[in-house]
Amino acid sequence: MIKIRIPATSANLGAGFDALGLAVSLYNYVEMEESDRVEISTTDSIPVPTDKTNMIYVAASDLYEVCGKELSGLKIKQTNNIPMTRGLGSSSACIVAGLVGANELLGRPLSDDDIVNLSAQIEGHPDNTAPALLGGIVTAVFDGRRVHWVKQEVFTKLKFVAIIPDFELSTSKARACLPKQIDFSDAVYNLSRAALFSSSLLTGKFENLRTGVDDRLHQPYRMELIPNAREVFDIAYSHGAYAAYISGAGPTIMAIADESNEFFAGKLKFSLENAGLTGWKVVELKIDNTGTTIL
Ligand code: HSE
Repeated sequence: MIKIRIPATSANLGAGFDALGLAVSLYNYVEMEESDRVEISTTDSIPVPTDKTNMIYVAASDLYEVCGKELSGLKIKQTNNIPMTRGLGSSSACIVAGLVGANELLGRPLSDDDIVNLSAQIEGHPDNTAPALLGGIVTAVFDGRRVHWVKQEVFTKLKFVAIIPDFELSTSKARACLPKQIDFSDAVYNLSRAALFSSSLLTGKFENLRTGVDDRLHQPYRMELIPNAREVFDIAYSHGAYAAYISGAGPTIMAIADESNEFFAGKLKFSLENAGLTGWKVVELKIDNTGTTIL
């Protein structure tokens, strides 16, 4: 059995819709070997499809097809630590696991570039799949066929605190609420902030992050689908967060705080409870610069 570790990812980073994403220190594990049938199990109680519709299997099967090989079956064992349908890249983690695992089983015929491209083709956008594979912060443009990307390692010691609600929000629902067209001024608003965010993160100009996460493409619409999101943002900022944004398509809200803000996560949790927001879990994470790893 090969064993793969895949990080959770936080996409968009506010203004960088479908373009920016970073990997964080929360991991799924997938064990995989060739078999003459499909045998899928989990080490936890989280329900997953156990037939050929399982996303890890679908991705592995795609890679075999690309390489001109027949996949007769797979034995897959999943450990799911990344919460599903919460905006932390759980489906991308499955896609990347399937591709990396299948590539390994075939003796690594495909490069990282090939896997970045294939994973974006399956997911439809690259901002979770690319950082899940590569780690760090990834800037990615998907031209419909291939991904043009840059991975940058982040050496700042920021905390990324995921505030995860107890309800799900599917990416398809969170994309369906977005406008079909936007104003020219809104496009300028977003592209300037997306550029500001990544350059400020990488150069340590953290006072810019709050402006950098502000956007007019998706968060104002998605806020309506996330009850109490505004209160969660306010609480994060009241405890000194540099920035707070909807992680990916939501409903998780990610807060970024300085390492020296020692009790940030604890204070956040306490304030959420005091405000009656008891369904939100607070998980303190760091940036993962490694990406998917074969253990
Ligand atoms: N960029 C994507 C979105 C990420 O916001 O819809 C979620 O998969």
